[in-house]
Amino acid sequence: MRLLFNKSSLILMFGLFLEVFSKLEFEYHSNKEMENILRRFEVSGKQKLKTKLYSIGYSSSTDEPFPLWVLELTAAPENVTGIPNVKLLGNMHGNEAGGRELLLHFIEHLIDSYGKVKLVSWLLNNTRIHIIPSINPDGFSNAGNSCNGMKGREVPTKKIDLNRNFPDFFHPNPDLVQAKESKAVMKWMEETKFILSAALHEGAMVANYPYDSINPNGDNDDDSEYLTPDDDVFKHLARTYANSHPVMSTNKGCPSDVKEFKGGITNGADWYSFDGGMGDYNYNYHGCMELTLELSCCKFPPNLTNLWNENKKPLLLYCLQAHRGVTGVILDSETKKPIKTKLKISDREAYFGNDRKSGEFWRILLPGQYVLEVEAPGYYAHFENFTVEDFKKFPKLTNLTIFLTNSSLPTTTTTTSSTTVIHTTNTTTSVSALIFPNITSRFTDNDDDKDYEYGFPSISELTSGFLKNSCANLALLLSVISFLVVIS
Ligand SMILES: *[C@@H]1O[C@H](CO)[C@@H](O)[C@H](O)[C@H]1NC(C)=O
Ligand SMILES: *[C@@H]1O[C@H](CO)[C@@H](O)[C@H](O)[C@H]1NC(C)=O
Ligand SMILES: *[C@@H]1O[C@H](CO)[C@@H](O)[C@H](O)[C@H]1NC(C)=O
Ligand SMILES: *[C@@H]1O[C@H](CO)[C@@H](O)[C@H](O)[C@H]1NC(C)=O
Ligand SMILES: *[C@@H]1O[C@H](CO)[C@@H](O)[C@H](O)[C@H]1NC(C)=O
Ligand SMILES: *[C@@H]1O[C@H](CO)[C@@H](O)[C@H](O)[C@H]1NC(C)=O
Ligand SMILES: *[C@@H]1O[C@H](CO)[C@@H](O)[C@H](O)[C@H]1NC(C)=O
Ligand SMILES: *[C@@H]1O[C@H](CO)[C@@H](O)[C@H](O)[C@H]1NC(C)=O
Ligand SMILES: [Zn+2]
Repeated sequence: MRLLFNKSSLILMFGLFLEVFSKLEFEYHSNKEMENILRRFEVSGKQKLKTKLYSIGYSSSTDEPFPLWVLELTAAPENVTGIPNVKLLGNMHGNEAGGRELLLHFIEHLIDSYGKVKLVSWLLNNTRIHIIPSINPDGFSNAGNSCNGMKGREVPTKKIDLNRNFPDFFHPNPDLVQAKESKAVMKWMEETKFILSAALHEGAMVANYPYDSINPNGDNDDDSEYLTPDDDVFKHLARTYANSHPVMSTNKGCPSDVKEFKGGITNGADWYSFDGGMGDYNYNYHGCMELTLELSCCKFPPNLTNLWNENKKPLLLYCLQAHRGVTGVILDSETKKPIKTKLKISDREAYFGNDRKSGEFWRILLPGQYVLEVEAPGYYAHFENFTVEDFKKFPKLTNLTIFLTNSSLPTTTTTTSSTTVIHTTNTTTSVSALIFPNITSRFTDNDDDKDYEYGFPSISELTSGFLKNSCANLALLLSVISFLVVIS
C-alpha cells in the first residue's frame, strides 16, 4: 500500500492518534468535550467490544438543546437472551459533577480492561452496560464549581429538579410538569428493560435505597423508614457498594449531615423523604432496582483521581449484581411465542414485567426458596417454585410456558376455584445464582486480577454452568493505520 500523505495530514493523523488513544485526564470537561470523549470511546471500544453511542433525547434548553448521550458497552451478541441491561447515570443534579467524570473513567476502564482483567471481560461478555454521564447537561453549564450550593442543580429553563420529576406511585400528581430529560428517561425505560441501575450524586457519602417517598400508610412523619418488599436485596446492593468503597461504610459523615449513616447506607425516606424521585419510579414502574449513590461530601470534588480510585471497584461489583437471582423466558404453551406477563415473587408485594419482545424476565434475589407468580389476561395463573442456591453458578434460563384458559391443562393441574385455575408444577425448578461471599476487605488500589477476584469465585467457577456466549471478536483487524486512512 502506498501512503500518499503530506506532512500536514501526517500531523493531523498523529493528533487524531493521540486523541483516540491517549488516557483521559482527571479534570472536568464541558458538554461538548464530554461528547467528543464519548465519540472517541465509541471508536476505541469497537476494537474489542460492541460499543454504541446513542442519544435518548435532548436537554430542555431552547437555545442549545444538547443530546442526552448514552454509551452502551457489551461483548455479547445482539438479540440473544440471557444478557441483562444495567444502567449508570450521572449529573442528574447539574451542580453534582463528580459522577459525570467518574463514569467517563469507568467507560475507559471497561474498554482498557476487556481481555486483560478477567472479571471485566466476564462482565462485558454477559451484560449490557448503558452509561449516561450527564442527564442534566443544561444544569451543568449553569453550575459553578462550588462544593455546596444549589446553582445548576435544576434544569435551568424549567427550574425543575429532575429527582422530583417522575410519576410517584404513592402520591400521584396530576399537575406534574415534566422536563424533557425526565421524559427521555421514561421513554428509554419503556424501550429497554433494565434490571439494575445507579444514579450518581454528590453532596453526601452514602448508598441510598428506596423508597424515597413518604409511607402513604404511615403517620405523617416525613423522615421515617419506608422499606420496599425487596428490602433484603436493596440492603445487599447498598452494602455491596459501601463495603467495597474505602471510606463510605466507615465515613463519619459530611459536615452537612443531619443523620449518621450506619455502614454508609440508608433508606431514602429515613434520610429525608420526597415524592417524584427517579429511584422509586424505576422500582415501582419498571421493576428496576436503582440506588442513589452519594459519592462525595463536595458536589464538585476537586480531586477526581481520588474519586475514581474510591469508586472503581464498587462500580464494577455493583454491575455484577445483575447476575444474581432468577431469570427466564415466558412462552405460550402452544405457540412457544413470548408473551408479556405480570410477575411477582410470592410474599413480595411488588410487580414487575417481562420484556415484550423476548418474553425474558429478571429479578435480583438473595439465596432462598421462592415462588414466581405469572399472570396474563386469558391465561391461567401460573405458580413456579424455584430455589436461588447459595453456590457459585450463574442463573440458568428457565422457559416457563403458560396456558390459555381455553386450552387443556396437563394433569398436574389443581383447580382451586371455578374462575381461576392454578397450575402448579410438581417439580421444583432449581435456579442457580452467582453468590458473592460478603465483602469484608478494604480496598487496595491496583489493577491486578487478584485484587478484583478477592473474595470472589474463581474464573472457572464463574464460567462453569453458564451460557457461553459466542461473541465473535469484532474489528480486531482494524489497525490504527487503516482506521486513520478511513477517516482522514
Ligand atoms: C436484532 O434485532 C433487530 C430488530 O429485531 C434487527 O434489526 C437486527 O438486525 C438484529 N441483529 C442481528 C445481529 O440479528
Ligand atoms: C469473553 O468472550 C470471549 C469471546 O467469546 C472469550 O474469548 C473470553 O474467554 C471470554 N472471557 C471470559 C472471562 O469469559
Ligand atoms: C488526589 O488523590 C490522590 C489519591 O487518591 C493523591 O495521590 C493525590 O495527591 C491527590 N491530589 C491532590 C492534588 O491532592
Ligand atoms: C428458551 O426459549 C428461548 C426463546 O424461545 C430459546 O431460545 C431457548 O433455547 C429456550 N431454552 C431452553 C432451555 O429451552
Ligand atoms: C384459545 O383462544 C385463543 C385466543 O383467544 C385462540 O387463538 C385459540 O384458537 C383458542 N384455542 C382453542 C383450543 O379454542
Ligand atoms: C411429576 O410429573 C411428571 C411428568 O411431568 C410425572 O412423571 C411424575 O409422576 C409426577 N410426579 C408426581 C409426584 O406427581
Ligand atoms: C411451592 O412452594 C409453596 C410455598 O413455599 C409450597 O407450599 C408448595 O408446596 C410448593 N410446591 C411444590 C410443588 O413444591
Ligand atoms: C453476610 O452478610 C449477611 C448480611 O448482609 C449476614 O447475615 C451474613 O451472616 C453474612 N455472612 C457471612 C458469611 O459473613
Ligand atoms: Zn443530587
